[in-house]
Amino acid sequence: MAQHTAPPQKVNLGPGFWPVAIGLSIFNIIATYFIVTWDVNGFLPEAATPAGDIDFLFKFMAVFGSAIFVYVTGFIVFFAIAWRRRPSDAPDAIGIQVHDSPKLEFWWTAIPAVLVVILAFFSVRIWANLQQTAGDVLTMESIGHQFKYEFRYPTLKQSVYDDMHLPVDTPITLHVTSADVIHSFWVPEIRLKYDMVPGLVQTMRFTPKKTGAYRIICTEFCGTNHGNMLAALHVDTPAQFQQWLAKQAKTQTQGSGPVALAGGNAASGQQLFGQKCASCHNANGGFDAKIVGPGLGKLANDAAHPQLVTGEKPDADGISHVLIKGYQGPDMSQGKSGASLGVMPNRQANALSNGDIANLTAYLLSLSQKKS
Ligand code: CUA
Repeated sequence: MAQHTAPPQKVNLGPGFWPVAIGLSIFNIIATYFIVTWDVNGFLPEAATPAGDIDFLFKFMAVFGSAIFVYVTGFIVFFAIAWRRRPSDAPDAIGIQVHDSPKLEFWWTAIPAVLVVILAFFSVRIWANLQQTAGDVLTMESIGHQFKYEFRYPTLKQSVYDDMHLPVDTPITLHVTSADVIHSFWVPEIRLKYDMVPGLVQTMRFTPKKTGAYRIICTEFCGTNHGNMLAALHVDTPAQFQQWLAKQAKTQTQGSGPVALAGGNAASGQQLFGQKCASCHNANGGFDAKIVGPGLGKLANDAAHPQLVTGEKPDADGISHVLIKGYQGPDMSQGKSGASLGVMPNRQANALSNGDIANLTAYLLSLSQKKS
């Protein structure tokens, strides 16, 4: 019954095909107008080059994507209605069988092919520009940690955490990597996103163009506190940036005097613990009540962990040493093959004064006494 080789015939496109095609075209022109004139910069600031290039590529893709969407879905709906099954049709009626349409097939192959080539041209050009921006005027590093961003500046001895400052109009080369699991470095206003992968250094190049505060967001699920892994990016004027840098350098050389642990105030220490330590350490349980680092509620009287991770005694001195120097490496209370527990930043990274260290030490020791 079904004929497989129909003689050439004029295909009836259905009632109202051309008015619908014209309607879809008008709709598409309106959509294109809104896409082209949409002020992306007003919606999400273009705070650095190459944000403008990337927005251009986005609009270019959106214009053609919307045309394809409008015509494809528009005609699917139209044909479904125009050629729907009618009550008068025979029970075994089948639709018009169309085989081969060389002309149509040529165009639906040629047009997308040309579009993809144009798209590839723009994408590759923007990508190539990213690889060879002029001048490493400021070259620095960012390292992802569970759950913070570390920033290394060429003129600072110590790292800075969760607070990045950059001078405006200065070409930046930023090397990103990770110390533990895969994180990512995304600043929506720069329009660049790079994964931070352990053992792999990737290079981002951009030039901040607008002063202001932006967010650096981790977009790679990296553990329980992934959702809180945010850092601030401040694009400063060159003068502000130099000021900030000088201030950092100064605080980093401070606090080298001896720490007097006597007179530490546990209540002040508790407050500070909430601000600086609680995202990684639990104050309400023993060693195994981990968040990132070990639980600290039984620091001085945990039979299963008679030593600190540094291998030192859990007394005021030992605790203060960890607060001062930070710690990274195996859990030395279990010997050299003990599990690594991530990075405990040092006093500079946590901005702890001598008084802060005495207060935190007093607080941590008070926890153990309460529970013994
Ligand atoms: Cu780091 Cu998600």
